[in-house]
Amino acid sequence: VESKAWSGRFSEPVAELVKRYTASVGFDHRLAAYDIQGSLAHAHMLQAAGILGAEDWAAIQRGLAMIEQEISDGRFKWSLDLEDVHLNIEKRLTDLIGDAGKRLHTGRSRNDQVATDIRLYLRASIDGLLELIRHAQLAFLDLAEKNADTIMPGFTHLQVAQPVTFGHHLMAYFEMLKRDADRLQDCRKRVNRLPLGAAALAGTSYPIDREMVAKELGFDGVCENSLDAVSDRDFAIEFASCAALIMTHLSRLSEELILWMSPRFGFISIADRFCTGSSIMPQKKNPDVPELIRGKTGRINGHLVALLTLMKSQPLAYNKDNQEDKEPLFDTVDTLANTLTILADMMTGITAKPEAMRAAAAQGFATATDLADYMVKKGLPFRDAHEVVALAVRHAETKGCDLSDLPLAELRGFSDLIEDDVFGVLTLEGSLNSRNHIGGTAPNQVRAAIGRARKLLG
Ligand code: ARG
Repeated sequence: VESKAWSGRFSEPVAELVKRYTASVGFDHRLAAYDIQGSLAHAHMLQAAGILGAEDWAAIQRGLAMIEQEISDGRFKWSLDLEDVHLNIEKRLTDLIGDAGKRLHTGRSRNDQVATDIRLYLRASIDGLLELIRHAQLAFLDLAEKNADTIMPGFTHLQVAQPVTFGHHLMAYFEMLKRDADRLQDCRKRVNRLPLGAAALAGTSYPIDREMVAKELGFDGVCENSLDAVSDRDFAIEFASCAALIMTHLSRLSEELILWMSPRFGFISIADRFCTGSSIMPQKKNPDVPELIRGKTGRINGHLVALLTLMKSQPLAYNKDNQEDKEPLFDTVDTLANTLTILADMMTGITAKPEAMRAAAAQGFATATDLADYMVKKGLPFRDAHEVVALAVRHAETKGCDLSDLPLAELRGFSDLIEDDVFGVLTLEGSLNSRNHIGGTAPNQVRAAIGRARKLLG
């Protein structure tokens, strides 16, 4: 059994189950590259401040480079006895370079070390996720562009409301992802602060240069209170909440894709490579990917709640509770990255079925509002126009036809403001084209929105 970095004070080894219970190396080994990066910056600063000799600094660089290589080759032996990623690497360093390895931890604690590792990990993850969001956005733009004129019913309460274009509907998701990316960018600012120097909780008596370490690691600045630096994980909670919102948006989309793919709607098809069959029903093609995106949203929401709950009763400063931040955080990043990657690909495998969309839009009195607006423009107050059209809809419903199918004479029975130019506004195209302002569903506005979006993405 390897002796632990802190075992001197103890008269007996920890029980086997306790060792397993408290160890984090099984998952925090993922932080190794960031741990090494942080150690190099720390040691460099110790050397520059005259706390560490030039030879020790050289040995530490050499040893950490060897360890990095061992890890990437899969040769590194992780030991549960050594508890976590930090102690595993430090012990190996000492085995490789002797006393210089034992000097690395001068003026540092695992408390500020792990907070630094997590922030470096999260910063890199955010940058990767931003790139994946961008890819997904481009996929939405391509599909929206193809469907800038494709008419579909817009819904409220899942009842046909007014015609929109499929492109317009897709651009709604583009906007959500745009805000999601903004939120991640903003969160990144608070992630990107250096905890090192806080040591265990109170700072350190060595003449350290925190600004130098911050600069070397690409942080925007240092955490300004040592207790806060080692104990808070609000940046991780904030990230998890950004992730939960992204998944919530994608879950809404997934719900729509599932409905639209159902033969009852028949609005779209999804390429076979994103669907699966049934082991009993030979005819089935199921939208597994959107269903799983919807399902995994529950798990991401769970991670957010886990992190909030983890923090809520902790007294300052560091407590071991914080070790529990890693698995939810890692799983959030992994799930989100996989979801965004698959989503971007799946959007390229979606094909609209314009006839079915159009037929649905033509069925639900989708242009009733247009008829009311038509009479308002001829001087009738909106509330009265609303009433007139409601009566006309009731009449059409009993006849089993759409408003545009009623003869002019019958329409005039409801208001003599109605003249034969009314059929221009009762058509789906007339309705769409009349909503011709920024944010409206007129096809030329949808194209303009796509143009602005492409410019934004560069
Ligand atoms: N594995 C620990 C964590 O993830 C590292 C910090 C441990 N610090 C301590 N004093 N036990 O938070």
